Amino acid sequence: MKIVVIGGTGLIGSKLTKKLRDLGHEVIAASPSKGINTITGEGLAEALKGANIVVDVSNSPSFEDQAVLQFFETSGRNLMAAEKTAGVGHHIALSVVGTDRLPESGYFRAKMAQEKLVLSSGIPYTIVRATQFFEFLDSIAQSGTVGQLVHLPLAFLQPIASDDVVSALLQVVSEKPTNGIIEIAGPDCIPFSEIVGEYLNATNDHRKVIAEESARYFGTKLSGHSLIPNKNPRLGSINFKSWFKGQKK
Ligand SMILES: NC(=O)c1ccc[n+]([C@@H]2O[C@H](COP(=O)([O-])OP(=O)(O)OC[C@H]3O[C@@H](n4cnc5c(N)ncnc54)[C@H](OP(=O)(O)O)[C@@H]3O)[C@@H](O)[C@H]2O)c1
Repeated sequence: MKIVVIGGTGLIGSKLTKKLRDLGHEVIAASPSKGINTITGEGLAEALKGANIVVDVSNSPSFEDQAVLQFFETSGRNLMAAEKTAGVGHHIALSVVGTDRLPESGYFRAKMAQEKLVLSSGIPYTIVRATQFFEFLDSIAQSGTVGQLVHLPLAFLQPIASDDVVSALLQVVSEKPTNGIIEIAGPDCIPFSEIVGEYLNATNDHRKVIAEESARYFGTKLSGHSLIPNKNPRLGSINFKSWFKGQKK
């Protein structure tokens, strides 16, 4: 099959592209650095010619509220129009668990806009909502840091390894479009303070974690389960310890 991975040079995209090629698919890793840009349209029609499946794992270069919304709206509009012309049979988009629960967050509003464009495109689709990647724990710690303290919400995370995200996407590529949402998550549901504390410990980082009511997640108030999947997510098998061990190799 011909598969175009939008964001094919990123964290998820580069791993997915390799695995799909190993399985014998013809894969285009699409990104601005490869001359394919969903914002300007550069190289897009050519890349999509004859494509059976598109997997969109792109991300905005800026997370500022207006910029991220503009990115996912413009990219989504251009991409869905080009896919329609090319006759793509399955669009797979990677989104985030809880996207519909956190309208206060500019990033989540932008992911919601991306999902709506997929839903209304008329192209058969599967939206895969993932929980936070283990690879994102560092940014979470950074965002809560003031001096030597890391302020974290009284909420839960169920982080997933990027390798498990890639396995879940490979499975979805092999299935028919669901025209719905699938949730994926890591094996363990853990308080923010515990998993971020474990990450800081493992990296010999001496910052201290505090869980408190007033702490925000990138500026957004969470309730305990805002970022936890609904019933029956597909679960990855890699826990924090085995993920961290894999990072050191
Ligand atoms: N981080 C998390 O915890 C988490 C959790 C759940 C879901 N997600 C979702 O996972 C997805 C992938 O995340 P990631 O961390 O793998 O992203 P990433 O490493 O930041 O990679 C982003 C990719 O998007 C490409 N890109 C940027 N602008 C583009 C454009 N105009 N046209 C085409 N491609 C463009 C980049 O290309 P260049 O390299 O050429 O710039 C890069 O390949 C995101 O949509 C995110 O919302 C993330």
